[in-house]
Amino acid sequence: MDLRFESVSKAYRRPDGSDMVALENIDLQVPHGEFVALLGASGCGKSTLLEIVAGLQAPTSGSVVLGDERLRGPHPSVSVVFQEDSTLPWRTVLDNVAFGLQMHHVDRSTIERTTREMIALVGLTGFEGAYPHQLSGGMRQRVAIARTLVLNPQVLLMDEPFGALDEQTRFVLGEELLRIWRETGATILFVTHSVHEAVQLADRIVVLSPRPGRIKTVIANDLRRPRHELDDPVRYAALVTELREAIGMTARPPATGAP
Ligand SMILES: Nc1ncnc2c1ncn2[C@@H]1O[C@H](COP(=O)(O)OP(=O)(O)OP(=O)(O)O)[C@@H](O)[C@H]1O
Ligand SMILES: [Mg+2]
Repeated sequence: MDLRFESVSKAYRRPDGSDMVALENIDLQVPHGEFVALLGASGCGKSTLLEIVAGLQAPTSGSVVLGDERLRGPHPSVSVVFQEDSTLPWRTVLDNVAFGLQMHHVDRSTIERTTREMIALVGLTGFEGAYPHQLSGGMRQRVAIARTLVLNPQVLLMDEPFGALDEQTRFVLGEELLRIWRETGATILFVTHSVHEAVQLADRIVVLSPRPGRIKTVIANDLRRPRHELDDPVRYAALVTELREAIGMTARPPATGAP
């Protein structure tokens, strides 16, 4: 099912009563199964946009449409993975991953089978009985991803899911996410601050500009996967430069003036 944003705007009320326009006229079509990165400076409305798709916020105007259904709240085909650790500390890995299915009153043998499949998919076989505090940050994010995937979402929303992790772990989890994405065929909207992460992962990169949050540009990423900087350094560097310029991350000296 394709996902469509139709002139989505969102204003928040400031304490003084005035409006703060967080998103303005977002128009975007995301074909089913596409991996889209949302890139932009802090405060440009990336999380707000995901929260609208997740049904956690209502747009002030415009709409988000999945297939031919206008989203008006949380939808069973749409799931979110947040940046912060969302595992339940008192539950084992197995019970964390099973949680969503237990809520849906799925029968026990299906829960057991599906949960073990998802744990295998995220590479945590052998850790079913562990508690979150016995795992590394990267492993806890794998649990969070597995918890979401058991619900078999058509649309997976990820708000800086690897933001709290070191660069190496981030890269490894990124490659694993790509494998999972291929196996599940889900559409992914992935928020990141990182130009390199966007280049590693996405088919298309949507660059937002702040206050009001607007789509500044949409850049197709046609680098062949797996994308390592050294495989095609010229095109990789060109894409990174284009994205840095789009988000205003340029370090050029001033054109005029002394010295
Ligand atoms: N619940 C809220 N009430 C009022 N203002 C909000 C609320 N949530 C976000 N905002 C404002 O909306 C703007 C966009 O916020 P948002 O969290 O969507 O940005 P972001 O791009 O995700 O930023 P970051 O990269 O720092 O996570 C910001 O100016 C923020 O202050
Ligand atoms: Mg955010």
